[in-house]
Amino acid sequence: MDGQLNSQCVADQFHQDPRVIQAKRLILDALSTHQHKLDGPRPSNSSLDTSYMALLGEAGKLRGRPLMLPYIGTGIGRGALVELGDGSVKYDFISGIGVHVLGHSHPAIVMAAIDAALSDTIMQGNLQQNSESVELARELCEVGNRNDGHFTHCFLATSGAMANENALKLVFQQKAPANRILAFRGGFAGRTLALSHITDRPEYRQGLPETVAVDYVPFFDSECPIKSTSEASQQLRYHLQKYPGEHAVMIFELIQGEGGVYPGNREFFIALMDILREHHVPIMIDEIQTFGRTTEPFAFQHFGLDEYVDVVTVGKLLQVCATLFSEPLNPSGPLLSQTFTGSTSAIFAARAILRELLSGDYFGEAGKILKFGNYFISRLTAIQQRHPEAIDGPFGFGGMIAFTPFGGNPQKAAQLVRALFEAGVLCFTGGNQPARIRFLVPYGAVRYEDIDAVTVIVEQTISRIVSLRGG
Ligand SMILES: Cc1ncc(COP(=O)(O)O)c(C=O)c1O
Repeated sequence: MDGQLNSQCVADQFHQDPRVIQAKRLILDALSTHQHKLDGPRPSNSSLDTSYMALLGEAGKLRGRPLMLPYIGTGIGRGALVELGDGSVKYDFISGIGVHVLGHSHPAIVMAAIDAALSDTIMQGNLQQNSESVELARELCEVGNRNDGHFTHCFLATSGAMANENALKLVFQQKAPANRILAFRGGFAGRTLALSHITDRPEYRQGLPETVAVDYVPFFDSECPIKSTSEASQQLRYHLQKYPGEHAVMIFELIQGEGGVYPGNREFFIALMDILREHHVPIMIDEIQTFGRTTEPFAFQHFGLDEYVDVVTVGKLLQVCATLFSEPLNPSGPLLSQTFTGSTSAIFAARAILRELLSGDYFGEAGKILKFGNYFISRLTAIQQRHPEAIDGPFGFGGMIAFTPFGGNPQKAAQLVRALFEAGVLCFTGGNQPARIRFLVPYGAVRYEDIDAVTVIVEQTISRIVSLRGG
Protein backbone atom coordinates (compact mmCIF):
# COMPACT_ATOMS: atom_id res chain seq x y z
CA MET A 1 0.00 0.00 0.00
CA ASP A 2 1.51 3.36 -0.96
CA GLY A 3 -1.06 5.84 0.39
CA GLN A 4 -0.31 9.14 2.06
CA LEU A 5 -0.74 7.63 5.51
CA ASN A 6 2.48 7.60 7.50
CA SER A 7 3.67 5.07 9.98
CA GLN A 8 2.14 7.05 12.84
CA CYS A 9 -1.16 5.62 11.68
CA VAL A 10 -2.15 2.15 12.77
CA ALA A 11 -3.27 1.22 9.22
CA ASP A 12 0.25 1.71 7.91
CA GLN A 13 1.76 -0.29 10.76
CA PHE A 14 -0.69 -3.10 9.91
CA HIS A 15 0.26 -3.09 6.21
CA GLN A 16 3.95 -3.13 7.11
CA ASP A 17 3.57 -5.96 9.62
CA PRO A 18 6.00 -8.73 8.54
CA ARG A 19 3.22 -11.31 8.90
CA VAL A 20 1.09 -9.41 6.36
CA ILE A 21 4.04 -8.99 3.98
CA GLN A 22 4.89 -12.69 4.30
CA ALA A 23 1.26 -13.75 3.74
CA LYS A 24 1.05 -11.67 0.57
CA ARG A 25 4.28 -13.16 -0.74
CA LEU A 26 2.97 -16.67 -0.11
CA ILE A 27 -0.25 -15.93 -1.98
CA LEU A 28 1.65 -14.57 -4.99
CA ASP A 29 3.90 -17.66 -4.99
CA ALA A 30 0.89 -19.96 -4.92
CA LEU A 31 -0.78 -17.97 -7.69
CA SER A 32 2.29 -18.27 -9.86
CA THR A 33 2.48 -22.05 -9.31
CA HIS A 34 -1.13 -22.58 -10.35
CA GLN A 35 -1.10 -20.03 -13.18
CA HIS A 36 1.70 -21.94 -14.84
CA LYS A 37 -0.74 -24.79 -15.48
CA LEU A 38 -2.44 -22.46 -17.97
CA ASP A 39 -0.05 -22.85 -20.88
CA GLY A 40 -2.34 -22.53 -23.89
CA PRO A 41 -5.94 -22.83 -24.99
CA ARG A 42 -7.65 -26.08 -24.11
CA PRO A 43 -11.13 -27.53 -24.64
CA SER A 44 -13.63 -28.01 -21.85
CA ASN A 45 -13.33 -30.83 -19.35
CA SER A 46 -16.21 -33.16 -20.27
CA SER A 47 -16.91 -33.97 -16.62
CA LEU A 48 -17.75 -30.27 -16.06
CA ASP A 49 -19.90 -29.82 -19.17
CA THR A 50 -23.25 -30.67 -17.56
CA SER A 51 -22.82 -28.39 -14.54
CA TYR A 52 -21.45 -25.59 -16.73
CA MET A 53 -24.40 -25.81 -19.12
CA ALA A 54 -26.75 -25.67 -16.12
CA LEU A 55 -24.95 -22.58 -14.80
CA LEU A 56 -25.15 -20.88 -18.20
CA GLY A 57 -28.84 -21.74 -18.41
CA GLU A 58 -29.47 -20.30 -14.97
CA ALA A 59 -27.46 -17.16 -15.78
CA GLY A 60 -29.54 -16.62 -18.90
CA LYS A 61 -32.79 -17.22 -17.05
CA LEU A 62 -31.91 -14.81 -14.25
CA ARG A 63 -30.78 -12.20 -16.75
CA GLY A 64 -33.84 -12.71 -18.93
CA ARG A 65 -31.82 -13.59 -22.03
CA PRO A 66 -28.79 -15.71 -22.86
CA LEU A 67 -25.35 -14.34 -22.01
CA MET A 68 -23.59 -12.46 -24.83
CA LEU A 69 -21.11 -15.36 -24.94
CA PRO A 70 -21.20 -18.64 -22.97
CA TYR A 71 -18.49 -17.17 -20.73
CA ILE A 72 -18.45 -17.67 -16.99
CA GLY A 73 -14.93 -17.46 -15.58
CA THR A 74 -13.39 -19.33 -12.68
CA GLY A 75 -11.43 -16.29 -11.50
CA ILE A 76 -7.98 -17.25 -12.70
CA GLY A 77 -6.01 -16.66 -15.85
CA ARG A 78 -2.50 -16.07 -17.03
CA GLY A 79 -1.75 -13.13 -19.29
CA ALA A 80 -4.02 -13.28 -22.31
CA LEU A 81 -5.35 -16.69 -21.24
CA VAL A 82 -8.44 -17.15 -19.07
CA GLU A 83 -9.97 -20.25 -17.50
CA LEU A 84 -13.73 -20.76 -17.80
CA GLY A 85 -16.04 -22.74 -15.54
CA ASP A 86 -16.12 -25.73 -17.91
CA GLY A 87 -12.36 -26.09 -17.49
CA SER A 88 -11.62 -24.67 -20.93
CA VAL A 89 -8.86 -22.11 -21.40
CA LYS A 90 -9.21 -19.40 -24.02
CA TYR A 91 -7.27 -16.49 -25.44
CA ASP A 92 -9.12 -13.41 -24.25
CA PHE A 93 -8.67 -10.89 -27.08
CA ILE A 94 -11.75 -8.84 -26.17
CA SER A 95 -10.73 -8.58 -22.48
CA GLY A 96 -14.20 -7.98 -21.05
CA ILE A 97 -14.81 -5.44 -23.85
CA GLY A 98 -11.73 -3.50 -22.92
CA VAL A 99 -11.39 -4.17 -19.20
CA HIS A 100 -8.46 -6.56 -18.63
CA VAL A 101 -5.71 -4.50 -20.16
CA LEU A 102 -3.04 -6.26 -18.08
CA GLY A 103 -4.57 -9.64 -18.90
CA HIS A 104 -5.86 -12.09 -16.31
CA SER A 105 -4.54 -12.53 -12.75
CA HIS A 106 -1.75 -10.00 -13.23
CA PRO A 107 0.31 -10.03 -9.99
CA ALA A 108 0.06 -6.23 -9.59
CA ILE A 109 -3.73 -6.41 -9.77
CA VAL A 110 -3.94 -9.36 -7.41
CA MET A 111 -1.70 -7.42 -4.97
CA ALA A 112 -3.92 -4.34 -5.32
CA ALA A 113 -6.98 -6.46 -4.55
CA ILE A 114 -5.31 -7.99 -1.50
CA ASP A 115 -4.34 -4.55 -0.16
CA ALA A 116 -7.92 -3.44 -0.75
CA ALA A 117 -9.26 -6.49 1.06
CA LEU A 118 -7.23 -5.48 4.10
CA SER A 119 -8.99 -2.14 4.18
CA ASP A 120 -12.16 -1.63 6.25
CA THR A 121 -14.02 0.04 3.39
CA ILE A 122 -15.44 -2.15 0.66
CA MET A 123 -16.93 0.66 -1.40
CA GLN A 124 -15.82 4.28 -1.35
CA GLY A 125 -17.96 7.35 -1.91
CA ASN A 126 -19.74 10.20 -0.16
CA LEU A 127 -18.76 9.73 3.46
CA GLN A 128 -16.47 6.74 3.20
CA GLN A 129 -13.43 7.87 1.22
CA ASN A 130 -9.93 6.73 1.96
CA SER A 131 -6.82 8.53 0.80
CA GLU A 132 -6.53 6.41 -2.36
CA SER A 133 -9.72 7.98 -3.80
CA VAL A 134 -8.09 11.40 -3.60
CA GLU A 135 -4.80 10.12 -4.98
CA LEU A 136 -6.50 8.47 -7.96
CA ALA A 137 -8.47 11.64 -8.77
CA ARG A 138 -5.29 13.71 -8.56
CA GLU A 139 -3.35 11.25 -10.73
CA LEU A 140 -6.08 11.22 -13.39
CA CYS A 141 -6.04 15.04 -13.56
CA GLU A 142 -2.24 14.95 -13.86
CA VAL A 143 -2.44 12.45 -16.73
CA GLY A 144 -5.14 14.53 -18.43
CA ASN A 145 -2.95 17.65 -18.12
CA ARG A 146 0.33 16.05 -19.18
CA ASN A 147 0.29 17.97 -22.47
CA ASP A 148 -2.04 20.97 -22.72
CA GLY A 149 -5.12 19.75 -20.85
CA HIS A 150 -6.66 21.94 -18.17
CA PHE A 151 -8.62 19.64 -15.86
CA THR A 152 -9.08 20.89 -12.34
CA HIS A 153 -11.65 18.37 -11.11
CA CYS A 154 -12.23 14.64 -11.21
CA PHE A 155 -15.34 12.86 -9.95
CA LEU A 156 -15.19 9.06 -9.68
CA ALA A 157 -18.07 6.73 -10.60
CA THR A 158 -18.83 3.03 -10.75
CA SER A 159 -19.81 2.83 -14.43
CA GLY A 160 -19.04 4.52 -17.70
CA ALA A 161 -22.71 5.39 -18.04
CA MET A 162 -22.69 7.16 -14.65
CA ALA A 163 -19.51 9.07 -15.57
CA ASN A 164 -21.23 10.21 -18.78
CA GLU A 165 -24.43 11.14 -16.92
CA ASN A 166 -22.38 13.23 -14.50
CA ALA A 167 -20.68 14.98 -17.43
CA LEU A 168 -24.06 15.73 -19.01
CA LYS A 169 -25.33 17.28 -15.77
CA LEU A 170 -22.36 19.65 -15.71
CA VAL A 171 -22.85 20.89 -19.25
CA PHE A 172 -26.64 21.13 -18.98
CA GLN A 173 -26.35 23.24 -15.83
CA GLN A 174 -23.73 25.47 -17.39
CA LYS A 175 -25.73 25.97 -20.59
CA ALA A 176 -29.22 26.08 -19.01
CA PRO A 177 -31.83 26.30 -20.46
CA ALA A 178 -30.17 24.52 -23.43
CA ASN A 179 -31.80 21.10 -23.72
CA ARG A 180 -30.33 19.45 -26.82
CA ILE A 181 -27.22 17.34 -27.43
CA LEU A 182 -25.07 16.86 -30.51
CA ALA A 183 -23.66 13.40 -31.14
CA PHE A 184 -22.23 11.26 -33.92
CA ARG A 185 -24.04 8.75 -36.06
CA GLY A 186 -22.87 5.28 -35.07
CA GLY A 187 -21.74 6.44 -31.62
CA PHE A 188 -22.20 4.66 -28.29
CA ALA A 189 -22.48 6.49 -24.96
CA GLY A 190 -24.10 3.97 -22.61
CA ARG A 191 -27.53 2.71 -21.71
CA THR A 192 -29.16 4.97 -19.10
CA LEU A 193 -32.45 6.65 -20.02
CA ALA A 194 -30.59 9.72 -21.31
CA LEU A 195 -27.62 7.91 -22.86
CA SER A 196 -29.73 5.40 -24.76
CA HIS A 197 -30.99 8.37 -26.79
CA ILE A 198 -27.45 9.48 -27.57
CA THR A 199 -26.27 5.97 -28.47
CA ASP A 200 -27.18 5.66 -32.13
CA ARG A 201 -28.94 2.28 -31.93
CA PRO A 202 -32.76 2.71 -31.96
CA GLU A 203 -33.24 -0.86 -30.70
CA TYR A 204 -31.44 0.10 -27.45
CA ARG A 205 -34.22 2.61 -26.59
CA GLN A 206 -37.18 0.60 -27.81
CA GLY A 207 -40.23 1.55 -25.72
CA LEU A 208 -38.36 4.17 -23.67
CA PRO A 209 -39.65 7.73 -23.34
CA GLU A 210 -37.60 10.45 -25.02
CA THR A 211 -35.49 12.04 -22.30
CA VAL A 212 -33.22 14.27 -24.34
CA ALA A 213 -33.26 15.62 -27.90
CA VAL A 214 -30.23 14.55 -29.91
CA ASP A 215 -29.05 15.93 -33.25
CA TYR A 216 -26.73 13.60 -35.12
CA VAL A 217 -23.71 14.49 -37.22
CA PRO A 218 -22.13 11.95 -39.62
CA PHE A 219 -18.81 10.50 -38.45
CA PHE A 220 -15.49 10.62 -40.30
CA ASP A 221 -15.17 8.41 -43.37
CA SER A 222 -11.54 7.38 -43.92
CA GLU A 223 -12.29 6.57 -47.57
CA CYS A 224 -13.27 10.17 -48.31
CA PRO A 225 -11.76 12.30 -45.53
CA ILE A 226 -12.21 15.73 -47.10
CA LYS A 227 -15.77 15.12 -48.27
CA SER A 228 -16.84 13.60 -44.95
CA THR A 229 -15.26 16.49 -43.00
CA SER A 230 -17.13 18.99 -45.13
CA GLU A 231 -20.43 17.08 -44.86
CA ALA A 232 -20.16 16.74 -41.09
CA SER A 233 -19.30 20.46 -40.74
CA GLN A 234 -22.31 21.38 -42.87
CA GLN A 235 -24.62 19.15 -40.85
CA LEU A 236 -23.27 20.56 -37.59
CA ARG A 237 -23.83 24.15 -38.78
CA TYR A 238 -27.35 23.18 -39.88
CA HIS A 239 -28.26 21.90 -36.39
CA LEU A 240 -26.70 24.91 -34.67
CA GLN A 241 -28.62 27.31 -36.89
CA LYS A 242 -31.87 25.41 -36.58
CA TYR A 243 -31.72 25.42 -32.76
CA PRO A 244 -29.67 28.50 -31.81
CA GLY A 245 -28.38 28.39 -28.22
CA GLU A 246 -30.20 25.11 -27.52
CA HIS A 247 -27.22 22.72 -27.54
CA ALA A 248 -25.58 21.99 -24.20
CA VAL A 249 -22.74 19.85 -25.56
CA MET A 250 -21.33 17.79 -28.40
CA ILE A 251 -20.12 14.31 -27.46
CA PHE A 252 -17.07 12.95 -29.27
CA GLU A 253 -16.06 9.30 -29.34
CA LEU A 254 -12.73 9.71 -31.13
CA ILE A 255 -12.51 6.06 -32.16
CA GLN A 256 -15.96 4.55 -32.36
CA GLY A 257 -15.73 1.23 -30.54
CA GLU A 258 -19.16 -0.36 -30.18
CA GLY A 259 -19.98 1.08 -33.61
CA GLY A 260 -17.36 -1.23 -35.16
CA VAL A 261 -13.91 0.44 -34.66
CA TYR A 262 -13.87 3.62 -36.73
CA PRO A 263 -11.09 6.11 -35.92
CA GLY A 264 -11.58 9.76 -36.82
CA ASN A 265 -8.71 12.11 -37.68
CA ARG A 266 -7.34 15.36 -36.25
CA GLU A 267 -8.44 17.63 -39.12
CA PHE A 268 -11.99 16.26 -38.95
CA PHE A 269 -12.26 16.80 -35.20
CA ILE A 270 -10.69 20.26 -35.32
CA ALA A 271 -13.06 21.38 -38.09
CA LEU A 272 -16.04 20.48 -35.91
CA MET A 273 -14.53 21.70 -32.65
CA ASP A 274 -13.78 25.14 -34.15
CA ILE A 275 -17.43 25.45 -35.17
CA LEU A 276 -18.53 24.41 -31.67
CA ARG A 277 -16.18 26.97 -30.10
CA GLU A 278 -17.65 29.67 -32.37
CA HIS A 279 -21.09 28.77 -30.99
CA HIS A 280 -19.92 28.39 -27.36
CA VAL A 281 -20.97 24.74 -27.23
CA PRO A 282 -18.91 22.72 -24.70
CA ILE A 283 -16.91 19.73 -25.98
CA MET A 284 -17.17 16.40 -24.20
CA ILE A 285 -14.91 13.47 -25.07
CA ASP A 286 -16.12 10.00 -24.15
CA GLU A 287 -12.91 8.02 -23.56
CA ILE A 288 -14.53 5.14 -21.75
CA GLN A 289 -13.25 2.76 -24.41
CA THR A 290 -10.39 4.74 -25.99
CA PHE A 291 -8.47 5.60 -22.82
CA GLY A 292 -5.10 3.83 -22.90
CA ARG A 293 -5.49 2.39 -26.39
CA THR A 294 -3.54 4.82 -28.59
CA THR A 295 -0.08 6.43 -28.48
CA GLU A 296 -1.10 8.54 -25.45
CA PRO A 297 -3.09 7.79 -22.30
CA PHE A 298 -6.03 9.82 -23.65
CA ALA A 299 -7.04 9.59 -27.31
CA PHE A 300 -7.61 13.38 -27.32
CA GLN A 301 -3.87 13.65 -26.60
CA HIS A 302 -3.12 11.25 -29.46
CA PHE A 303 -5.14 13.45 -31.84
CA GLY A 304 -3.68 16.67 -30.36
CA LEU A 305 -7.02 18.11 -29.23
CA ASP A 306 -6.07 19.03 -25.64
CA GLU A 307 -6.95 22.70 -25.87
CA TYR A 308 -10.53 21.96 -26.96
CA VAL A 309 -11.66 19.52 -24.29
CA ASP A 310 -14.03 20.78 -21.58
CA VAL A 311 -14.96 17.46 -20.05
CA VAL A 312 -13.74 13.88 -20.56
CA THR A 313 -14.92 10.57 -19.19
CA VAL A 314 -12.93 7.36 -18.64
CA GLY A 315 -13.78 3.83 -17.51
CA LYS A 316 -13.29 0.21 -18.54
CA LEU A 317 -9.56 -0.61 -18.42
CA LEU A 318 -9.11 1.64 -15.40
CA GLN A 319 -11.67 -0.38 -13.38
CA VAL A 320 -12.88 2.93 -11.90
CA CYS A 321 -14.81 5.36 -14.09
CA ALA A 322 -14.43 9.11 -13.83
CA THR A 323 -15.49 12.50 -15.15
CA LEU A 324 -12.66 15.04 -15.50
CA PHE A 325 -13.64 18.65 -16.05
CA SER A 326 -12.25 22.14 -16.14
CA GLU A 327 -13.05 24.91 -13.66
CA PRO A 328 -15.83 26.67 -15.60
CA LEU A 329 -17.88 23.46 -15.49
CA ASN A 330 -17.64 23.08 -11.71
CA PRO A 331 -21.36 23.04 -10.87
CA SER A 332 -23.12 25.22 -8.39
CA GLY A 333 -25.02 23.15 -5.86
CA PRO A 334 -24.71 19.47 -5.02
CA LEU A 335 -25.20 18.19 -8.56
CA LEU A 336 -22.78 15.26 -8.23
CA SER A 337 -22.87 12.94 -5.25
CA GLN A 338 -22.83 9.16 -4.89
CA THR A 339 -22.88 6.70 -2.01
CA PHE A 340 -20.53 4.58 -4.12
CA THR A 341 -17.89 6.06 -6.45
CA GLY A 342 -15.83 2.88 -6.69
CA SER A 343 -14.85 -0.22 -4.74
CA THR A 344 -11.60 -0.05 -2.80
CA SER A 345 -10.19 -2.92 -4.88
CA ALA A 346 -11.12 -1.09 -8.12
CA ILE A 347 -9.45 2.09 -6.86
CA PHE A 348 -6.26 0.25 -5.86
CA ALA A 349 -6.32 -1.59 -9.19
CA ALA A 350 -6.82 1.67 -11.12
CA ARG A 351 -3.76 3.15 -9.46
CA ALA A 352 -1.71 0.01 -10.19
CA ILE A 353 -2.83 0.02 -13.83
CA LEU A 354 -2.00 3.71 -14.24
CA ARG A 355 1.41 3.12 -12.66
CA GLU A 356 2.11 0.20 -15.01
CA LEU A 357 0.97 2.08 -18.14
CA LEU A 358 2.85 5.26 -17.29
CA SER A 359 6.08 3.63 -16.16
CA GLY A 360 6.17 0.84 -18.76
CA ASP A 361 7.02 1.31 -22.38
CA TYR A 362 3.44 1.56 -23.65
CA PHE A 363 2.88 4.95 -25.26
CA GLY A 364 4.46 6.80 -28.18
CA GLU A 365 5.08 5.68 -31.76
CA ALA A 366 7.54 3.02 -30.53
CA GLY A 367 5.42 1.99 -27.53
CA LYS A 368 3.97 -1.45 -26.91
CA ILE A 369 0.39 -0.44 -27.75
CA LEU A 370 1.26 0.51 -31.31
CA LYS A 371 3.86 -2.25 -31.69
CA PHE A 372 1.49 -5.05 -30.70
CA GLY A 373 -1.33 -3.39 -32.64
CA ASN A 374 0.77 -3.16 -35.81
CA TYR A 375 1.90 -6.76 -35.47
CA PHE A 376 -1.68 -7.98 -35.03
CA ILE A 377 -2.76 -5.89 -38.03
CA SER A 378 0.05 -7.35 -40.15
CA ARG A 379 -1.09 -10.89 -39.27
CA LEU A 380 -4.74 -10.09 -40.03
CA THR A 381 -3.74 -8.40 -43.29
CA ALA A 382 -1.95 -11.59 -44.37
CA ILE A 383 -5.13 -13.58 -43.62
CA GLN A 384 -7.21 -11.08 -45.59
CA GLN A 385 -4.86 -11.45 -48.56
CA ARG A 386 -5.25 -15.23 -48.49
CA HIS A 387 -9.05 -15.03 -48.02
CA PRO A 388 -10.20 -11.86 -49.78
CA GLU A 389 -13.63 -13.42 -50.32
CA ALA A 390 -14.15 -13.89 -46.59
CA ILE A 391 -12.86 -10.76 -44.88
CA ASP A 392 -12.29 -7.03 -45.39
CA GLY A 393 -9.90 -4.95 -43.35
CA PRO A 394 -8.34 -5.00 -40.84
CA PHE A 395 -9.39 -1.64 -39.39
CA GLY A 396 -8.35 0.44 -36.38
CA PHE A 397 -4.95 0.64 -34.71
CA GLY A 398 -3.19 0.23 -31.37
CA GLY A 399 -5.49 -1.38 -28.83
CA MET A 400 -8.67 -1.30 -30.97
CA ILE A 401 -8.70 -3.56 -34.02
CA ALA A 402 -11.44 -5.11 -36.17
CA PHE A 403 -12.18 -6.80 -39.48
CA THR A 404 -15.36 -7.29 -41.47
CA PRO A 405 -16.22 -10.94 -42.11
CA PHE A 406 -18.49 -12.27 -44.85
CA GLY A 407 -19.58 -8.90 -46.24
CA GLY A 408 -20.58 -7.59 -42.79
CA ASN A 409 -23.66 -9.82 -42.46
CA PRO A 410 -24.60 -9.56 -38.71
CA GLN A 411 -25.73 -13.23 -38.40
CA LYS A 412 -22.57 -14.53 -40.06
CA ALA A 413 -20.41 -12.26 -37.89
CA ALA A 414 -22.16 -13.55 -34.75
CA GLN A 415 -21.63 -17.15 -35.95
CA LEU A 416 -17.94 -16.47 -36.46
CA VAL A 417 -17.62 -15.03 -32.93
CA ARG A 418 -19.22 -18.22 -31.63
CA ALA A 419 -16.99 -20.46 -33.76
CA LEU A 420 -13.88 -18.59 -32.57
CA PHE A 421 -15.08 -18.97 -28.99
CA GLU A 422 -15.35 -22.74 -29.48
CA ALA A 423 -11.90 -22.75 -31.07
CA GLY A 424 -10.37 -20.90 -28.11
CA VAL A 425 -10.45 -17.17 -28.96
CA LEU A 426 -12.66 -14.56 -27.30
CA CYS A 427 -13.66 -11.64 -29.50
CA PHE A 428 -16.91 -9.80 -30.14
CA THR A 429 -18.98 -8.12 -32.81
CA GLY A 430 -19.17 -4.37 -33.28
CA GLY A 431 -21.45 -2.29 -35.48
CA ASN A 432 -24.35 -3.54 -37.46
CA GLN A 433 -24.14 -2.51 -41.08
CA PRO A 434 -21.54 -3.81 -41.61
CA ALA A 435 -21.07 -6.01 -38.57
CA ARG A 436 -17.41 -6.38 -37.68
CA ILE A 437 -15.33 -8.67 -35.47
CA ARG A 438 -13.64 -6.62 -32.75
CA PHE A 439 -10.57 -7.19 -30.64
CA LEU A 440 -9.51 -5.19 -27.57
CA VAL A 441 -6.12 -6.78 -27.04
CA PRO A 442 -4.77 -7.01 -23.47
CA TYR A 443 -1.48 -5.46 -24.56
CA GLY A 444 -0.22 -5.26 -20.98
CA ALA A 445 0.03 -9.04 -20.98
CA VAL A 446 0.06 -10.19 -24.59
CA ARG A 447 3.14 -11.68 -26.26
CA TYR A 448 3.90 -11.97 -29.97
CA GLU A 449 3.41 -15.76 -29.64
CA ASP A 450 -0.13 -15.14 -28.38
CA ILE A 451 -0.93 -13.00 -31.42
CA ASP A 452 0.54 -15.72 -33.67
CA ALA A 453 -1.54 -18.41 -31.98
CA VAL A 454 -4.74 -16.32 -32.12
CA THR A 455 -4.34 -15.45 -35.79
CA VAL A 456 -3.70 -19.12 -36.65
CA ILE A 457 -7.01 -19.98 -34.96
CA VAL A 458 -8.77 -17.10 -36.75
CA GLU A 459 -7.52 -18.29 -40.14
CA GLN A 460 -8.33 -21.97 -39.50
CA THR A 461 -11.83 -21.06 -38.32
CA ILE A 462 -12.53 -18.84 -41.32
CA SER A 463 -11.18 -21.50 -43.72
CA ARG A 464 -13.38 -24.14 -42.12
CA ILE A 465 -16.49 -21.97 -42.43
CA VAL A 466 -15.67 -21.11 -46.04
CA SER A 467 -15.15 -24.76 -46.97
CA LEU A 468 -18.37 -25.83 -45.18
CA ARG A 469 -20.27 -23.23 -47.17
CA GLY A 470 -18.69 -24.56 -50.35
CA GLY A 471 -16.35 -21.59 -50.93
C1 LIG B 1 -17.69 4.84 -25.62
C2 LIG B 1 -18.46 4.26 -24.48
N1 LIG B 1 -19.16 5.08 -23.69
C3 LIG B 1 -19.86 4.61 -22.63
C4 LIG B 1 -19.91 3.28 -22.35
C5 LIG B 1 -20.72 2.77 -21.18
O1 LIG B 1 -19.89 2.27 -20.19
P1 LIG B 1 -20.49 1.26 -19.10
O2 LIG B 1 -20.86 0.01 -19.84
O3 LIG B 1 -19.39 1.08 -18.11
O4 LIG B 1 -21.69 1.93 -18.50
C6 LIG B 1 -19.20 2.38 -23.17
C7 LIG B 1 -19.27 0.91 -22.93
O5 LIG B 1 -19.04 0.11 -23.80
C8 LIG B 1 -18.47 2.89 -24.26
O6 LIG B 1 -17.78 2.07 -25.08
